[in-house]
Amino acid sequence: MRFVDIIEKKRDGKALNQEEIHFWIQGYVKGTIPDYQVSALCMAIYFQGMNDDEIAILTNEMLHSGDVIGLSDIAGMKADKHSTGGVGDKTSLSLAPMVAACGLKVAKMSGRGLGHTGGTLDKVESIEGFDISLDEEEFKKQVNDIGLAIIGQTRQVVPADKKLYGLRDVTATVNSIPLIASSIMSKKLASGSDTILLDVKFGEGAFMKTPHDAQVLAETMIRIGKKLGKDTRAMISNMNQPLGNAIGNALEVKEAIATLKDEGPQDFKELCMKAGSIMLMQGKIASDESEARKMLQENIDNGNALLKLVEMVKAQKGNPEQILHPEKLPTAKYQIEINALTEGYIKNLHALELGTLAMLIGAGRKVKEDSINHAVGIVLKKKDGDYVKIGDSLATVHTDQPLTDEWIKEFYECFEMSQTPVQKAPLIYQVIE
Ligand code: URA
Repeated sequence: MRFVDIIEKKRDGKALNQEEIHFWIQGYVKGTIPDYQVSALCMAIYFQGMNDDEIAILTNEMLHSGDVIGLSDIAGMKADKHSTGGVGDKTSLSLAPMVAACGLKVAKMSGRGLGHTGGTLDKVESIEGFDISLDEEEFKKQVNDIGLAIIGQTRQVVPADKKLYGLRDVTATVNSIPLIASSIMSKKLASGSDTILLDVKFGEGAFMKTPHDAQVLAETMIRIGKKLGKDTRAMISNMNQPLGNAIGNALEVKEAIATLKDEGPQDFKELCMKAGSIMLMQGKIASDESEARKMLQENIDNGNALLKLVEMVKAQKGNPEQILHPEKLPTAKYQIEINALTEGYIKNLHALELGTLAMLIGAGRKVKEDSINHAVGIVLKKKDGDYVKIGDSLATVHTDQPLTDEWIKEFYECFEMSQTPVQKAPLIYQVIE
């Protein structure tokens, strides 16, 4: 088989078969097919797409390019949730303890942030001593014992994706539904949970720019999940503005803790309640949404959800005092209020730019090798649809360095104002089962 024939076939809009996709993935991982040929194939896929059979075969080939984690020796249903990423997305930090307190097991392997998006591992590492590198036996034991663990990847899971994603990133082929769907689903299927909930974001701060594109991606991933035998469901949610108020690692941990005490922002709590309900139904712990919501609320009210987070932090050698007293989490040198210069309603609050500005003061990484400052970030005081008077605080910026005029100018540009009232856009557009 010659790889150039496979590129040509896809370039001409034909479907690839199992043998060809196997040849591609195996050859690429082994290094016998060079980057430049795979780049050409990715670009052909970007323009020509793939049918459902091709996407399922590609996912399966990627899934088996490395280790597949077996969680079957952990008692009970194991649930996984994946967000396609965004700004201020600290959902796992609240949601995982909430559902674990209701009796669902969550064995979560998370990633780091890059560019304007944050990553769960960076957020949990704001907690002093927190160890994300449990080995597989420790990971499984912890999930068995307390129902919850959040770690980085243990083994070589889906090496094909690592290589392919790096290549797509520099060849303008990230935004292809077949390539995103197979990338996400191969990793989810390799991490071994019984159920998968996908939070597919759309909007400025997300890969998919419109609800329609997010829906197509979600439906594609659900079909792959079903074909490969997993209960896979999806929510479509809005990432035009940041989720909740906090952007930045320790600040997001604080907001997640507040949410577990029912003192967090309403939009973020609603996302956790909706996602938690779906997960409890997938795990057969609740039979319908109203029962699931009641269980989640009870576990917030009786303090068990927060205690579950404390238990996880203790089990992973983190300092539980920082969860019980969040003011002990890392704090930046300066807290600078940014006040409104104009009056009106906030029409748009640009998530992508706010994420980038938080990155620029140290909350994120420009390139993979950068280190981050856990203490810094932005806490928004106003969101889409809110009315603002001159002098009102728009946000508090937590920073270790004075802000430059350029940074402040760009910050103001994130707030697009209207003189007439603006309807708040719904956060959750759709649930697809
Ligand atoms: N997230 C992934 O894991 N893969 C993609 O291709 C895009 C987003």
